[in-house]
Amino acid sequence: MQTLHELFLHGLNDILDAEQQLVIALQGLASDSSREDLKKAFESHRIETEGHVRRLHQCFELLGERPRNTECRGIRTLIVETKAFRQEGPAEGVINAFNVGVGIKSETYEIREYESLIDMAAEMKLTDVAKLLTENLREERTALKKLVGFSQVNC
Ligand SMILES: [Fe+2]
Ligand SMILES: [Fe+2]
Repeated sequence: MQTLHELFLHGLNDILDAEQQLVIALQGLASDSSREDLKKAFESHRIETEGHVRRLHQCFELLGERPRNTECRGIRTLIVETKAFRQEGPAEGVINAFNVGVGIKSETYEIREYESLIDMAAEMKLTDVAKLLTENLREERTALKKLVGFSQVNC
C-alpha cells in the first residue's frame, strides 16, 4: 500500500464489511433484548444500517471501484465475544445491559472509522463521497446517543 487513496479504499472496504456484519448482528441484538424500546432501537438501526451499506456501494461507484472481499476483524471479534457471553447463561436484564454495551462499542468503532474516512475524502477533494459518508456518520452518532441513554437507565 503506497498512497492515501489506497489507504482510503482499504478503510472503505473495512467499514463495508463491518456494516454488512452489523445488519445481521443488530437483528440478533433486537431479538435477544427483552425490553421493547431497546428491541425497537436495535431494529430501527438495523434498517438504517442497510442504508449505510447502500451508501457505501454508491461511494465505490463514484470512485469507479469495486468492493473487495475484506473481513472487518474489529466487528467480527465483538460478535464472537457477544456469542461467548450468551453461552454463560446471563439473566434477561443482564442480557439487555450487555447488548447496550455491545451497541455502544460498535457505534463508537463505526464513528471513528467514518471520521477518519471523511478526513481522507476531504483531503483528496472527494466531495460527493464525503457527503455520503457524513450521512452515515450522522446516523451512527444519533444511534450512539440513544444507546448511551439506555445505559443510564436500568435495563
Ligand atoms: Fe452503520
Ligand atoms: Fe451503527
